[in-house]
Amino acid sequence: MARVLVTRRLPTGGLDPLIEAGHEIVTRDDDTPFSKTELIDAVRDVDAIVCLLTDRIDADVLAAGAAGRLKVVANVAVGYDNVDVASATGHGIVVTNTPGVLDETTADLAFLLILAAARLASDGERDLRAGVWDGWEITEYLGVDVHGATLGIVGFGRIGRAVARRAAGFGMAVVHHTRNDTGIAGWTADLDGMLASSDVVSLHTPLTDETRHLVDARRLALMKPTAVLVNTARGPVVDEAALAEALHAGRLFAAGIDVYEREPEVHPRLLTAPRTVLLPHLGSASVATRVRMAHLACAGALAVLAGETPPNLVHA
Ligand code: DGY
Repeated sequence: MARVLVTRRLPTGGLDPLIEAGHEIVTRDDDTPFSKTELIDAVRDVDAIVCLLTDRIDADVLAAGAAGRLKVVANVAVGYDNVDVASATGHGIVVTNTPGVLDETTADLAFLLILAAARLASDGERDLRAGVWDGWEITEYLGVDVHGATLGIVGFGRIGRAVARRAAGFGMAVVHHTRNDTGIAGWTADLDGMLASSDVVSLHTPLTDETRHLVDARRLALMKPTAVLVNTARGPVVDEAALAEALHAGRLFAAGIDVYEREPEVHPRLLTAPRTVLLPHLGSASVATRVRMAHLACAGALAVLAGETPPNLVHA
């Protein structure tokens, strides 16, 4: 029997695979996040960690785990920029994530943001709830059309492709940019050119040193003033201050944002930006998907504890 630290409460039934396998779950009843010091203390005496993207599993935490008997960090997210994978690998600690199970749910949310931002849904709803909507006007709440528009997808992994499938149903022309040629129609090596020619840009790239502030002030300035930017990937892929300025200045038509540079903080200028839909990082938030994510994280931990190589292993 292994001891598994579970840093936060998971959806009901999410831990069943570990419990059924007879492992001891170490967790907190009150669901408060672990501070770094508490995490360092807690990992000294466990074989596995099941953690969330809000936990920073850095070199110090991993060193403390390695000094004990930590074998696996199972991150309940497809993104793993919160885990120092190089350090884990150096200590022989396996890192796993949750690829595949959240693609469609996240793509649904990306499409929701495309539609809501392009059609000014948040502005309209805000006015209606505030009682300031005084009836139909032919010149009010004029958005941009999604059908027939050109969608530029940055990053064309499973989620980017799932967004492209939805776009086909809206009659959109889809182009995509990745560093390496995908061999799929619509690929371009020219990110700047794609940003300049797209009506809607949706970001689906992981956060790495190369993608941090990939969409910065210079690239935002390349986009059409009628364009819509959607980010369901990771906040730091976009320079949030520069985005807010572009929206305030009317240099970008609208934005749909689910992820932020310093979550849960949101740049104050973004909070007041016009034509902007802001959601609280809920891309994968459906009951079924969050349970699937928890189960896949458990499966990764179980495989490592059984001495096997998990299919959802993250490579440094
Ligand atoms: C992830 O999995 O990386 C998302 O951001 C949360 O589902």
